[in-house]
Amino acid sequence: MREWTREERYRVLKDPQEVKDLYDRIIKSGYRQTYHIQPVTGLLNDPNGFVWFDNKWHLFYQWCPWGAVHGLKYWYHVVSKDLITWKNLGVCLMPDEIYGYDNKGAYSGSAMPIGDKLYLYYTGNNRDEDYIRHSYTCIAKLGSDGWPEKYPLPLFGPNPDYTENQRDPKIIVMPDGETYYIILGAQTKDNKGRIIVYKSENLLHGWTFAGELKVPGFEDFGGMWECPSIERIGGKDILMFCPQHIKLPGRGDGTNHNGYIIGNMDWDSLTFIPEGRFHVLDFGFDSYAAACANNIEDEDKAILIAWMGLPDASYPTDDEEWSGCLTLPRELTIRGRRLIQKPLPELKKLRAEKLEVRENEAGCAVLPEAAEIVMDIRPGDLNLELFTDESGQGGLSVSYSEDSREITVDRSGMQFRFNEVNGESRTRPLEDGLSNLRIFIDRSSVEIFVNDGDAVFSSRVFPTEQEHFMKLSTGDAFTRIWTINPAVKEEFLI
Ligand code: FRU
Repeated sequence: MREWTREERYRVLKDPQEVKDLYDRIIKSGYRQTYHIQPVTGLLNDPNGFVWFDNKWHLFYQWCPWGAVHGLKYWYHVVSKDLITWKNLGVCLMPDEIYGYDNKGAYSGSAMPIGDKLYLYYTGNNRDEDYIRHSYTCIAKLGSDGWPEKYPLPLFGPNPDYTENQRDPKIIVMPDGETYYIILGAQTKDNKGRIIVYKSENLLHGWTFAGELKVPGFEDFGGMWECPSIERIGGKDILMFCPQHIKLPGRGDGTNHNGYIIGNMDWDSLTFIPEGRFHVLDFGFDSYAAACANNIEDEDKAILIAWMGLPDASYPTDDEEWSGCLTLPRELTIRGRRLIQKPLPELKKLRAEKLEVRENEAGCAVLPEAAEIVMDIRPGDLNLELFTDESGQGGLSVSYSEDSREITVDRSGMQFRFNEVNGESRTRPLEDGLSNLRIFIDRSSVEIFVNDGDAVFSSRVFPTEQEHFMKLSTGDAFTRIWTINPAVKEEFLI
Protein backbone atom coordinates (compact mmCIF):
# COMPACT_ATOMS: atom_id res chain seq x y z
CA MET A 1 0.00 0.00 0.00
CA ARG A 2 1.16 3.51 -0.79
CA GLU A 3 2.74 5.53 2.02
CA TRP A 4 1.71 9.19 2.08
CA THR A 5 3.76 11.99 3.57
CA ARG A 6 1.95 14.67 5.55
CA GLU A 7 2.71 17.19 2.78
CA GLU A 8 1.12 14.95 0.18
CA ARG A 9 -2.01 14.28 2.24
CA TYR A 10 -2.57 17.92 3.17
CA ARG A 11 -1.71 19.44 -0.20
CA VAL A 12 -4.21 22.13 -1.17
CA LEU A 13 -6.02 21.58 -4.46
CA LYS A 14 -5.41 24.74 -6.47
CA ASP A 15 -6.62 23.70 -9.87
CA PRO A 16 -9.04 20.90 -10.87
CA GLN A 17 -6.58 19.85 -13.54
CA GLU A 18 -4.32 18.56 -10.77
CA VAL A 19 -6.66 15.59 -10.33
CA LYS A 20 -7.84 15.18 -13.92
CA ASP A 21 -5.41 12.36 -14.71
CA LEU A 22 -6.43 10.58 -11.54
CA TYR A 23 -10.09 10.97 -12.52
CA ASP A 24 -9.45 9.64 -16.04
CA ARG A 25 -7.73 6.62 -14.51
CA ILE A 26 -10.23 5.74 -11.80
CA ILE A 27 -13.38 5.97 -13.91
CA LYS A 28 -12.07 2.97 -15.84
CA SER A 29 -12.22 0.84 -12.71
CA GLY A 30 -14.67 -2.06 -12.84
CA TYR A 31 -15.49 -1.31 -9.19
CA ARG A 32 -16.97 2.14 -9.81
CA GLN A 33 -20.54 2.14 -8.52
CA THR A 34 -23.53 2.76 -10.79
CA TYR A 35 -26.23 3.92 -8.34
CA HIS A 36 -24.34 4.82 -5.16
CA ILE A 37 -22.72 8.17 -4.41
CA GLN A 38 -18.96 7.83 -4.74
CA PRO A 39 -16.00 10.24 -4.76
CA VAL A 40 -15.20 12.14 -7.92
CA THR A 41 -11.55 11.23 -7.21
CA GLY A 42 -9.72 10.17 -4.06
CA LEU A 43 -11.49 9.32 -0.82
CA LEU A 44 -15.05 9.78 0.39
CA ASN A 45 -16.01 9.36 4.03
CA ASP A 46 -18.90 10.83 6.07
CA PRO A 47 -22.12 12.20 4.57
CA ASN A 48 -22.62 15.82 5.73
CA GLY A 49 -25.34 18.49 5.65
CA PHE A 50 -28.13 16.22 4.42
CA VAL A 51 -31.17 18.46 3.92
CA TRP A 52 -34.17 19.39 1.74
CA PHE A 53 -33.72 22.96 0.52
CA ASP A 54 -34.70 24.98 -2.54
CA ASN A 55 -36.80 22.16 -3.95
CA LYS A 56 -34.12 19.53 -3.88
CA TRP A 57 -32.14 17.27 -1.61
CA HIS A 58 -28.66 18.45 -0.78
CA LEU A 59 -25.95 16.19 0.45
CA PHE A 60 -22.25 16.73 0.93
CA TYR A 61 -19.50 14.24 1.55
CA GLN A 62 -16.14 14.42 3.23
CA TRP A 63 -13.67 14.39 0.38
CA CYS A 64 -9.91 14.13 0.07
CA PRO A 65 -8.99 14.67 -3.59
CA TRP A 66 -5.62 12.98 -3.75
CA GLY A 67 -6.15 9.27 -3.26
CA ALA A 68 -7.34 6.67 -0.78
CA VAL A 69 -6.08 8.61 2.20
CA HIS A 70 -7.55 10.69 5.02
CA GLY A 71 -5.83 14.00 4.29
CA LEU A 72 -7.16 17.50 3.71
CA LYS A 73 -10.97 17.26 3.78
CA TYR A 74 -13.41 19.26 1.65
CA TRP A 75 -17.22 19.17 1.53
CA TYR A 76 -18.18 17.89 -1.92
CA HIS A 77 -21.76 18.75 -2.96
CA VAL A 78 -24.32 16.51 -4.70
CA VAL A 79 -28.05 17.14 -5.27
CA SER A 80 -31.11 15.09 -6.09
CA LYS A 81 -34.82 15.59 -6.69
CA ASP A 82 -35.80 12.06 -5.69
CA LEU A 83 -32.95 10.77 -3.45
CA ILE A 84 -32.24 8.15 -6.09
CA THR A 85 -30.60 9.92 -9.03
CA TRP A 86 -27.78 12.24 -8.03
CA LYS A 87 -25.89 15.03 -9.72
CA ASN A 88 -22.41 16.29 -8.88
CA LEU A 89 -22.20 20.00 -8.12
CA GLY A 90 -18.53 20.21 -7.18
CA VAL A 91 -16.62 21.30 -4.12
CA CYS A 92 -18.53 23.43 -1.63
CA LEU A 93 -16.52 24.03 1.54
CA MET A 94 -12.79 24.34 1.06
CA PRO A 95 -10.35 24.37 3.94
CA ASP A 96 -8.25 27.47 3.79
CA GLU A 97 -4.99 28.77 5.17
CA ILE A 98 -6.08 32.40 5.12
CA TYR A 99 -9.35 31.86 6.99
CA GLY A 100 -7.25 29.67 9.23
CA TYR A 101 -9.87 28.08 11.45
CA ASP A 102 -10.19 25.16 9.06
CA ASN A 103 -6.66 25.18 7.67
CA LYS A 104 -6.33 21.38 7.92
CA GLY A 105 -9.83 20.38 6.90
CA ALA A 106 -13.52 21.24 6.74
CA TYR A 107 -14.70 18.35 8.87
CA SER A 108 -18.15 16.84 9.27
CA GLY A 109 -21.32 18.71 10.17
CA SER A 110 -24.94 19.40 9.35
CA ALA A 111 -27.15 21.95 7.57
CA MET A 112 -30.16 24.10 8.43
CA PRO A 113 -32.23 26.07 5.90
CA ILE A 114 -33.57 29.49 6.94
CA GLY A 115 -35.63 31.35 4.36
CA ASP A 116 -33.77 31.26 1.09
CA LYS A 117 -30.37 30.48 2.65
CA LEU A 118 -28.78 27.26 3.71
CA TYR A 119 -26.49 27.38 6.72
CA LEU A 120 -23.73 24.81 6.98
CA TYR A 121 -22.33 23.97 10.42
CA TYR A 122 -19.01 22.20 10.31
CA THR A 123 -15.84 21.56 12.26
CA GLY A 124 -12.87 23.65 11.31
CA ASN A 125 -9.95 21.32 11.85
CA ASN A 126 -7.18 23.72 12.69
CA ARG A 127 -3.59 22.77 13.36
CA ASP A 128 -1.04 25.24 14.67
CA GLU A 129 2.70 25.44 13.84
CA ASP A 130 3.37 22.66 16.35
CA TYR A 131 0.74 20.57 14.64
CA ILE A 132 -1.53 20.69 17.69
CA ARG A 133 -5.19 20.38 16.75
CA HIS A 134 -7.84 22.99 17.66
CA SER A 135 -11.45 22.32 16.69
CA TYR A 136 -13.67 25.27 15.82
CA THR A 137 -17.38 25.14 15.15
CA CYS A 138 -17.72 27.15 11.97
CA ILE A 139 -20.62 28.28 9.84
CA ALA A 140 -21.02 29.08 6.17
CA LYS A 141 -23.99 30.44 4.26
CA LEU A 142 -24.86 28.98 0.91
CA GLY A 143 -26.12 31.74 -1.33
CA SER A 144 -28.45 31.37 -4.28
CA ASP A 145 -25.44 31.07 -6.60
CA GLY A 146 -24.45 27.93 -4.67
CA TRP A 147 -21.28 29.57 -3.46
CA PRO A 148 -20.56 29.29 0.27
CA GLU A 149 -19.71 32.34 2.29
CA LYS A 150 -17.83 31.51 5.48
CA TYR A 151 -18.60 33.65 8.50
CA PRO A 152 -15.48 35.57 9.54
CA LEU A 153 -15.43 34.06 13.02
CA PRO A 154 -16.32 30.60 14.22
CA LEU A 155 -19.42 30.23 16.43
CA PHE A 156 -17.19 28.92 19.19
CA GLY A 157 -13.76 27.43 19.70
CA PRO A 158 -12.38 24.38 21.44
CA ASN A 159 -13.73 23.54 24.90
CA PRO A 160 -10.70 23.48 27.23
CA ASP A 161 -12.24 20.80 29.47
CA TYR A 162 -12.04 18.13 26.78
CA THR A 163 -9.27 16.77 24.56
CA GLU A 164 -8.65 18.07 21.06
CA ASN A 165 -11.21 15.50 19.82
CA GLN A 166 -14.41 17.53 19.67
CA ARG A 167 -16.20 17.77 16.37
CA ASP A 168 -19.12 17.05 14.02
CA PRO A 169 -21.77 19.70 14.92
CA LYS A 170 -25.36 18.60 14.55
CA ILE A 171 -27.71 21.57 14.60
CA ILE A 172 -31.06 20.93 16.26
CA VAL A 173 -34.05 23.27 16.52
CA MET A 174 -36.57 22.94 19.36
CA PRO A 175 -40.30 22.73 18.60
CA ASP A 176 -40.72 26.35 19.83
CA GLY A 177 -38.67 27.37 16.80
CA GLU A 178 -36.69 29.76 18.97
CA THR A 179 -34.11 27.65 20.75
CA TYR A 180 -31.26 25.93 19.02
CA TYR A 181 -28.73 23.37 20.16
CA ILE A 182 -25.52 22.16 18.62
CA ILE A 183 -24.28 18.81 19.84
CA LEU A 184 -20.68 17.75 19.30
CA GLY A 185 -18.87 14.44 19.68
CA ALA A 186 -16.15 14.78 22.31
CA GLN A 187 -13.66 13.03 24.53
CA THR A 188 -12.93 13.64 28.22
CA LYS A 189 -9.36 14.11 29.35
CA ASP A 190 -9.39 10.55 30.65
CA ASN A 191 -10.41 9.34 27.20
CA LYS A 192 -14.10 8.65 27.53
CA GLY A 193 -16.55 9.31 24.71
CA ARG A 194 -19.03 12.12 25.36
CA ILE A 195 -21.46 14.52 23.72
CA ILE A 196 -21.21 18.19 24.58
CA VAL A 197 -24.02 20.65 24.04
CA TYR A 198 -24.13 24.32 23.03
CA LYS A 199 -27.21 26.51 23.05
CA SER A 200 -28.37 29.74 21.45
CA GLU A 201 -31.50 31.63 20.56
CA ASN A 202 -29.96 32.70 17.30
CA LEU A 203 -28.49 30.43 14.68
CA LEU A 204 -25.66 32.79 13.88
CA HIS A 205 -24.41 34.06 17.23
CA GLY A 206 -24.74 33.96 21.01
CA TRP A 207 -23.72 30.32 21.38
CA THR A 208 -22.77 29.25 24.91
CA PHE A 209 -21.71 25.94 26.39
CA ALA A 210 -24.80 24.35 27.99
CA GLY A 211 -23.11 21.28 29.44
CA GLU A 212 -22.33 17.65 28.86
CA LEU A 213 -25.07 15.29 27.77
CA LYS A 214 -25.81 12.77 30.51
CA VAL A 215 -26.61 9.30 29.23
CA PRO A 216 -27.09 7.14 32.35
CA GLY A 217 -25.37 3.77 31.95
CA PHE A 218 -23.11 4.94 29.11
CA GLU A 219 -20.49 6.85 31.10
CA ASP A 220 -17.83 4.33 30.09
CA PHE A 221 -18.67 3.31 26.56
CA GLY A 222 -15.77 3.92 24.20
CA GLY A 223 -13.08 6.55 24.00
CA MET A 224 -14.60 9.04 21.54
CA TRP A 225 -18.10 9.49 20.16
CA GLU A 226 -18.05 10.71 16.57
CA CYS A 227 -20.94 12.10 14.51
CA PRO A 228 -23.64 12.32 17.20
CA SER A 229 -27.25 13.19 16.49
CA ILE A 230 -30.57 13.16 18.29
CA GLU A 231 -33.54 12.43 16.06
CA ARG A 232 -37.20 12.37 16.96
CA ILE A 233 -39.08 9.52 15.28
CA GLY A 234 -42.53 8.22 16.16
CA GLY A 235 -42.69 10.02 19.51
CA LYS A 236 -39.31 8.72 20.68
CA ASP A 237 -35.86 10.23 20.73
CA ILE A 238 -33.03 8.36 19.08
CA LEU A 239 -29.45 9.05 20.10
CA MET A 240 -27.16 8.03 17.25
CA PHE A 241 -23.40 8.11 17.45
CA CYS A 242 -20.19 6.31 16.55
CA PRO A 243 -18.38 5.02 19.64
CA GLN A 244 -14.68 4.36 19.02
CA HIS A 245 -11.88 2.55 20.86
CA ILE A 246 -14.22 -0.15 22.12
CA LYS A 247 -14.77 -3.74 21.06
CA LEU A 248 -18.34 -4.99 20.79
CA PRO A 249 -19.42 -8.63 20.77
CA GLY A 250 -19.61 -10.24 17.32
CA ARG A 251 -17.59 -7.49 15.64
CA GLY A 252 -14.11 -9.01 15.65
CA ASP A 253 -11.34 -6.76 16.88
CA GLY A 254 -12.93 -3.73 15.24
CA THR A 255 -13.08 -0.61 17.40
CA ASN A 256 -15.24 1.72 15.24
CA HIS A 257 -19.00 1.28 15.43
CA ASN A 258 -22.19 3.11 14.59
CA GLY A 259 -25.32 2.61 16.63
CA TYR A 260 -28.23 4.08 18.49
CA ILE A 261 -30.11 4.12 21.75
CA ILE A 262 -33.85 4.71 21.90
CA GLY A 263 -35.05 6.86 24.78
CA ASN A 264 -36.29 10.23 25.86
CA MET A 265 -34.35 13.45 25.70
CA ASP A 266 -34.82 16.03 28.40
CA TRP A 267 -33.27 19.19 27.02
CA ASP A 268 -33.76 21.12 30.28
CA SER A 269 -31.54 18.78 32.28
CA LEU A 270 -29.50 17.69 29.22
CA THR A 271 -30.24 14.06 30.01
CA PHE A 272 -30.97 11.31 27.55
CA ILE A 273 -32.81 8.52 29.40
CA PRO A 274 -32.20 5.26 27.56
CA GLU A 275 -35.06 2.83 27.20
CA GLY A 276 -32.87 -0.06 26.30
CA ARG A 277 -29.44 -1.01 25.13
CA PHE A 278 -27.10 0.25 22.44
CA HIS A 279 -28.05 -1.27 19.07
CA VAL A 280 -25.69 -1.60 16.16
CA LEU A 281 -27.31 0.30 13.31
CA ASP A 282 -26.12 -1.90 10.46
CA PHE A 283 -24.89 -5.47 10.81
CA GLY A 284 -22.77 -5.36 7.65
CA PHE A 285 -19.02 -4.88 7.58
CA ASP A 286 -18.88 -1.33 6.22
CA SER A 287 -21.12 1.30 7.70
CA TYR A 288 -20.25 4.42 9.67
CA ALA A 289 -21.10 8.07 10.31
CA ALA A 290 -24.81 7.68 9.49
CA ALA A 291 -26.70 10.96 9.21
CA CYS A 292 -30.39 11.78 8.94
CA ALA A 293 -31.83 14.49 6.71
CA ASN A 294 -32.42 17.51 8.90
CA ASN A 295 -35.90 18.62 8.01
CA ILE A 296 -38.36 15.89 7.31
CA GLU A 297 -41.92 17.02 7.97
CA ASP A 298 -43.16 13.52 8.76
CA GLU A 299 -42.87 12.93 12.51
CA ASP A 300 -42.97 9.18 12.17
CA LYS A 301 -39.96 8.69 9.98
CA ALA A 302 -36.51 9.88 9.07
CA ILE A 303 -34.23 9.40 6.10
CA LEU A 304 -30.76 8.13 6.79
CA ILE A 305 -27.62 7.71 4.73
CA ALA A 306 -24.21 6.44 5.86
CA TRP A 307 -20.65 6.03 4.69
CA MET A 308 -20.26 2.47 3.40
CA GLY A 309 -16.82 2.28 4.90
CA LEU A 310 -14.93 2.47 8.16
CA PRO A 311 -12.13 4.52 9.66
CA ASP A 312 -8.73 2.80 9.93
CA ALA A 313 -9.66 0.36 7.16
CA SER A 314 -8.24 -0.28 3.73
CA TYR A 315 -10.04 -1.42 0.60
CA PRO A 316 -8.98 -3.14 -2.63
CA THR A 317 -9.48 0.09 -4.62
CA ASP A 318 -6.88 1.88 -2.48
CA ASP A 319 -4.35 0.73 -5.08
CA GLU A 320 -6.44 2.46 -7.75
CA GLU A 321 -6.24 5.62 -5.60
CA TRP A 322 -9.90 6.00 -4.74
CA SER A 323 -12.02 4.73 -1.87
CA GLY A 324 -15.46 4.88 -0.31
CA CYS A 325 -19.09 5.31 -1.28
CA LEU A 326 -22.34 6.03 0.55
CA THR A 327 -25.12 3.56 1.33
CA LEU A 328 -28.51 3.88 -0.30
CA PRO A 329 -30.69 6.36 1.60
CA ARG A 330 -33.09 4.52 3.92
CA GLU A 331 -36.41 5.26 5.51
CA LEU A 332 -36.31 4.90 9.31
CA THR A 333 -39.30 4.12 11.48
CA ILE A 334 -39.64 2.65 14.96
CA ARG A 335 -41.15 -0.71 15.72
CA GLY A 336 -41.08 -1.81 19.37
CA ARG A 337 -37.60 -1.25 20.70
CA ARG A 338 -35.89 -1.06 17.31
CA LEU A 339 -35.34 1.10 14.31
CA ILE A 340 -36.65 -0.35 11.08
CA GLN A 341 -34.65 0.56 7.98
CA LYS A 342 -36.26 0.17 4.58
CA PRO A 343 -35.06 1.02 1.11
CA LEU A 344 -36.90 4.09 -0.17
CA PRO A 345 -40.02 3.30 -2.24
CA GLU A 346 -38.62 5.47 -5.08
CA LEU A 347 -35.87 2.87 -5.64
CA LYS A 348 -38.29 0.73 -7.58
CA LYS A 349 -38.01 3.33 -10.35
CA LEU A 350 -34.47 2.13 -10.96
CA ARG A 351 -35.54 -1.40 -11.85
CA ALA A 352 -34.64 -2.05 -15.48
CA GLU A 353 -35.12 -5.59 -16.75
CA LYS A 354 -36.76 -8.41 -14.83
CA LEU A 355 -34.58 -11.46 -15.32
CA GLU A 356 -35.64 -15.02 -15.66
CA VAL A 357 -33.76 -16.93 -13.00
CA ARG A 358 -32.01 -19.64 -15.06
CA GLU A 359 -29.64 -22.01 -13.29
CA ASN A 360 -26.63 -23.73 -14.83
CA GLU A 361 -25.68 -27.36 -14.11
CA ALA A 362 -24.15 -26.34 -10.80
CA GLY A 363 -27.41 -24.66 -9.75
CA CYS A 364 -26.00 -21.16 -10.20
CA ALA A 365 -27.75 -18.17 -11.76
CA VAL A 366 -25.94 -15.22 -13.27
CA LEU A 367 -25.66 -12.27 -10.88
CA PRO A 368 -25.69 -8.95 -12.77
CA GLU A 369 -23.25 -6.28 -11.60
CA ALA A 370 -26.10 -3.95 -10.59
CA ALA A 371 -29.21 -5.76 -9.42
CA GLU A 372 -32.05 -5.98 -6.95
CA ILE A 373 -33.03 -9.40 -5.65
CA VAL A 374 -36.29 -9.94 -3.78
CA MET A 375 -36.89 -13.26 -2.02
CA ASP A 376 -39.99 -14.41 -0.17
CA ILE A 377 -38.83 -17.25 2.01
CA ARG A 378 -40.72 -20.21 3.43
CA PRO A 379 -39.89 -21.36 6.96
CA GLY A 380 -36.73 -23.48 7.23
CA ASP A 381 -32.98 -23.11 6.91
CA LEU A 382 -31.51 -21.02 4.12
CA ASN A 383 -28.11 -20.93 2.45
CA LEU A 384 -27.70 -18.34 -0.24
CA GLU A 385 -24.33 -17.66 -1.84
CA LEU A 386 -23.75 -14.43 -3.74
CA PHE A 387 -20.70 -13.75 -5.95
CA THR A 388 -19.78 -17.42 -6.42
CA ASP A 389 -17.90 -18.63 -9.47
CA GLU A 390 -19.84 -20.55 -12.12
CA SER A 391 -19.40 -23.81 -10.24
CA GLY A 392 -20.99 -22.31 -7.13
CA GLN A 393 -17.76 -22.05 -5.16
CA GLY A 394 -16.72 -19.20 -2.91
CA GLY A 395 -18.53 -15.89 -2.57
CA LEU A 396 -20.41 -14.17 0.22
CA SER A 397 -22.81 -16.40 2.09
CA VAL A 398 -26.11 -15.47 3.69
CA SER A 399 -27.34 -18.26 5.94
CA TYR A 400 -30.25 -18.62 8.27
CA SER A 401 -30.71 -21.36 10.83
CA GLU A 402 -34.23 -22.13 11.96
CA ASP A 403 -32.83 -23.73 15.14
CA SER A 404 -30.90 -20.73 16.37
CA ARG A 405 -33.13 -18.17 14.59
CA GLU A 406 -30.02 -16.33 13.48
CA ILE A 407 -28.99 -14.91 10.14
CA THR A 408 -25.28 -14.77 9.30
CA VAL A 409 -23.43 -12.98 6.52
CA ASP A 410 -19.92 -14.25 5.87
CA ARG A 411 -17.60 -12.72 3.28
CA SER A 412 -14.55 -14.90 3.94
CA GLY A 413 -15.24 -16.86 0.72
CA MET A 414 -14.54 -13.86 -1.53
CA GLN A 415 -11.26 -13.80 -3.42
CA PHE A 416 -10.51 -10.24 -2.29
CA ARG A 417 -10.44 -10.30 1.50
CA PHE A 418 -9.83 -7.14 3.49
CA ASN A 419 -10.24 -5.71 6.99
CA GLU A 420 -10.34 -9.27 8.35
CA VAL A 421 -9.48 -7.84 11.75
CA ASN A 422 -13.08 -6.66 12.08
CA GLY A 423 -14.28 -10.24 11.67
CA GLU A 424 -15.46 -11.83 8.43
CA SER A 425 -18.86 -12.96 9.59
CA ARG A 426 -21.71 -11.09 11.26
CA THR A 427 -24.75 -12.62 12.92
CA ARG A 428 -28.07 -11.13 13.95
CA PRO A 429 -30.88 -12.94 15.80
CA LEU A 430 -34.32 -12.71 14.15
CA GLU A 431 -37.13 -12.88 16.66
CA ASP A 432 -39.74 -13.77 14.05
CA GLY A 433 -37.73 -16.15 11.87
CA LEU A 434 -36.69 -15.28 8.31
CA SER A 435 -39.46 -14.36 5.89
CA ASN A 436 -37.94 -12.12 3.24
CA LEU A 437 -34.75 -10.59 1.85
CA ARG A 438 -34.30 -7.57 -0.39
CA ILE A 439 -30.77 -7.32 -1.71
CA PHE A 440 -29.16 -4.46 -3.63
CA ILE A 441 -25.99 -5.28 -5.53
CA ASP A 442 -23.80 -2.66 -7.14
CA ARG A 443 -20.38 -3.16 -8.72
CA SER A 444 -18.62 -3.14 -5.34
CA SER A 445 -21.27 -3.34 -2.64
CA VAL A 446 -24.13 -5.38 -1.30
CA GLU A 447 -26.94 -4.18 0.99
CA ILE A 448 -29.17 -6.86 2.44
CA PHE A 449 -32.50 -5.81 4.00
CA VAL A 450 -33.97 -8.58 6.13
CA ASN A 451 -37.64 -9.04 7.09
CA ASP A 452 -38.93 -5.73 5.73
CA GLY A 453 -36.12 -3.71 7.28
CA ASP A 454 -35.88 -5.40 10.69
CA ALA A 455 -32.14 -5.82 10.03
CA VAL A 456 -29.72 -4.56 7.40
CA PHE A 457 -26.24 -5.68 6.39
CA SER A 458 -24.24 -3.20 4.23
CA SER A 459 -20.85 -4.25 2.94
CA ARG A 460 -18.32 -3.51 0.28
CA VAL A 461 -17.39 -6.50 -1.89
CA PHE A 462 -14.95 -6.55 -4.78
CA PRO A 463 -15.88 -9.53 -6.96
CA THR A 464 -13.35 -10.74 -9.49
CA GLU A 465 -14.40 -11.47 -13.07
CA GLN A 466 -15.26 -15.04 -12.08
CA GLU A 467 -17.38 -14.07 -9.08
CA HIS A 468 -20.65 -13.21 -10.84
CA PHE A 469 -23.04 -16.01 -9.94
CA MET A 470 -25.47 -16.78 -7.15
CA LYS A 471 -26.75 -20.02 -5.75
CA LEU A 472 -29.51 -21.00 -3.36
CA SER A 473 -28.12 -24.24 -1.93
CA THR A 474 -30.62 -24.70 0.88
CA GLY A 475 -34.08 -23.25 1.33
CA ASP A 476 -37.35 -22.60 -0.37
CA ALA A 477 -37.80 -19.13 -1.78
CA PHE A 478 -39.72 -17.26 -4.45
CA THR A 479 -37.00 -15.15 -6.08
CA ARG A 480 -37.20 -12.18 -8.45
CA ILE A 481 -34.22 -10.33 -9.91
CA TRP A 482 -34.08 -7.01 -11.71
CA THR A 483 -31.13 -5.28 -13.26
CA ILE A 484 -30.81 -1.71 -12.02
CA ASN A 485 -30.41 1.41 -14.12
CA PRO A 486 -27.47 3.71 -13.40
CA ALA A 487 -28.34 6.67 -11.16
CA VAL A 488 -25.00 8.39 -10.71
CA LYS A 489 -22.93 9.75 -13.57
CA GLU A 490 -19.19 10.06 -13.76
CA GLU A 491 -18.85 13.85 -14.07
CA PHE A 492 -15.58 15.67 -13.65
CA LEU A 493 -16.78 18.61 -11.61
CA ILE A 494 -14.53 20.05 -8.95
C1 FRU B 1 -15.75 10.35 11.12
C2 FRU B 1 -14.79 11.52 11.13
C3 FRU B 1 -15.40 12.73 11.81
C4 FRU B 1 -14.64 13.86 11.20
C5 FRU B 1 -14.45 13.38 9.78
C6 FRU B 1 -13.17 13.83 9.13
O1 FRU B 1 -15.46 9.46 10.10
O2 FRU B 1 -13.57 11.17 11.76
O3 FRU B 1 -15.37 12.69 13.21
O4 FRU B 1 -15.31 15.07 11.26
O5 FRU B 1 -14.49 11.98 9.83
O6 FRU B 1 -13.18 13.49 7.79
